[in-house]
Amino acid sequence: MEKIVALCKRRGFIFQSSEIYGGLNGAWDYGPLGVELKRNLKDYWWKCMTQLRDDIVGFDGSILMNAAVWKATGHVDTFSDPLVECLLTKKRYRADQIEPQSGTAYYYEGFKTTDKSMEADVPGAIPSTKSMLIVKHPFAVLVPKGKPEASAQKIARQFYEAYKNGLKPDSELILTESKPEENTTKFNPENGAQLSEPRVFNLMLKTYIGPVQDESAVTYLRPETAQAMFVQFKNVLDVSQKKLPFGIAQIGKAFRNEINPRNFTFRSREFEQMELEFFVKPGTGPEWLEKWKEERLAWYEAVGIPRSKIHVLTVAEKDRSFYSQGTYDLEYEFPFGVQELEGIAHRGNYDLTKHQTASGKPLEYFDEETKTKYLPEVVEPSAGVDRTVLALLCEAYDEETIKDEESGKEETRVVLHFSPRIAPIKAAVFPLLKNKPELVAIAKDIYKTLQPLLKVTYADTAAIGRRYRRMDEIGTPFGITVDFETLEGVKEASISATGTPIAAGQKETVTLRHRDSMKQERIAIADLPAYLLAKIA
Ligand code: GAP
Repeated sequence: MEKIVALCKRRGFIFQSSEIYGGLNGAWDYGPLGVELKRNLKDYWWKCMTQLRDDIVGFDGSILMNAAVWKATGHVDTFSDPLVECLLTKKRYRADQIEPQSGTAYYYEGFKTTDKSMEADVPGAIPSTKSMLIVKHPFAVLVPKGKPEASAQKIARQFYEAYKNGLKPDSELILTESKPEENTTKFNPENGAQLSEPRVFNLMLKTYIGPVQDESAVTYLRPETAQAMFVQFKNVLDVSQKKLPFGIAQIGKAFRNEINPRNFTFRSREFEQMELEFFVKPGTGPEWLEKWKEERLAWYEAVGIPRSKIHVLTVAEKDRSFYSQGTYDLEYEFPFGVQELEGIAHRGNYDLTKHQTASGKPLEYFDEETKTKYLPEVVEPSAGVDRTVLALLCEAYDEETIKDEESGKEETRVVLHFSPRIAPIKAAVFPLLKNKPELVAIAKDIYKTLQPLLKVTYADTAAIGRRYRRMDEIGTPFGITVDFETLEGVKEASISATGTPIAAGQKETVTLRHRDSMKQERIAIADLPAYLLAKIA
């Protein structure tokens, strides 16, 4: 993972937000290549949802909504995670993400000290003898089985030293009990220190609307894009004149005050979602849940994440979101573990019911066939843009040992095997030599012809091998080189990249180099636009 993070910074895919000020945890900036990759991914999702299907329309809702929306859905009351805090470091963790551990737990009641000044203002300090105080303040440490108490004492002493500056080198810890613990989540896996009791932590990012910052001005940055689509369901239905089943698709930012942002962009506080709310007839939700699971798996395959790398998790009832009647999580094999990319939930008519009740406005669908009114059920495939970008980077990253053609030496080639469809730059155009004006002129001409059609780049510095390598590292699938055979005609007849013959002596062809195989073949300059456009469609 470190190598991918370093490449992302080095080549301009992803930077830490506010880096020159020490960064902002859980926020990221996409650089020139990252933004192209992300845009290609979103465009392809948008195309698949709203262009290639007749039953889905697009939508772009506001991030700020009336706070009543979030009260009605239950987000204000229940969109929370259980939070625990390390009593030693004060670092916070999600209680449900603490790995269970086993070992020996040492329970301390407090410590004895000769520092009588503590008596005055330290809670739990009681005189023991004339010269001694007992400071009662329980704390426990878990150490791996077989480790001596000394390792627990080390952590406990740090804890008590920080407590009111109380523990001095000559103070004595008061151990009350030591016992084995199996699969416990009460201790910090990083240092063994006791964790606080879990408390509920709401993930909504609060803000104020208008100049007066009181309770009536409170609203939230949306934690999911979905709700605007539910709230506008009737308006969209009326204008689009769709019949069930039909969907509303949206891509946009969402915000969550995550307790512990981590794993690069995987868990951020600001991120983007690609969400579809697919409205279906009552009773047909389960069947559509299956259909969307298959659709989405095929979509990931089409952007370069093979089916074999995606795990389909049937989320257990106790783990499902409060609105869900059934959920599949599509999980990817990230280097840091198998983790969720997308949730596909059968939300029933939870949201429409809540909004209809809270707003007092009818949101029912009139079924022309049965002449009845009802609230449709909803199946929601909800994908994370940033997580998918991260999965694409992880899937694409590769290191190969190859022989340099010029020096004959072995070297490591870093290559991103992006699918041409989502690669940030589709092709690079090179003149073989920078100091040959005839080659440069043709290369620039090709570049200008391709530029309006697809994202291309032009490079004429460094040896051609170096230029190829730079393009490999950012995942550019095609290299187009204008060489002397372009000017003088090819030496040998061959079959071109398009499958058509190229005759010996034929001019106006170029070398087409394929990033993954490093294979080189010739192609007529005139065939380049159609060839490349077909590859990225
Ligand atoms: N509307 C349903 C919903 O929001 P979710 O499972 O909470 O469901 C959907 O989120 C997707 O959004 C996740 O599968 C993930 O890809 C992305 N996502 C959620 N929280 C995220 C975070 N903190 N950072 C990055 N992506 C996140």
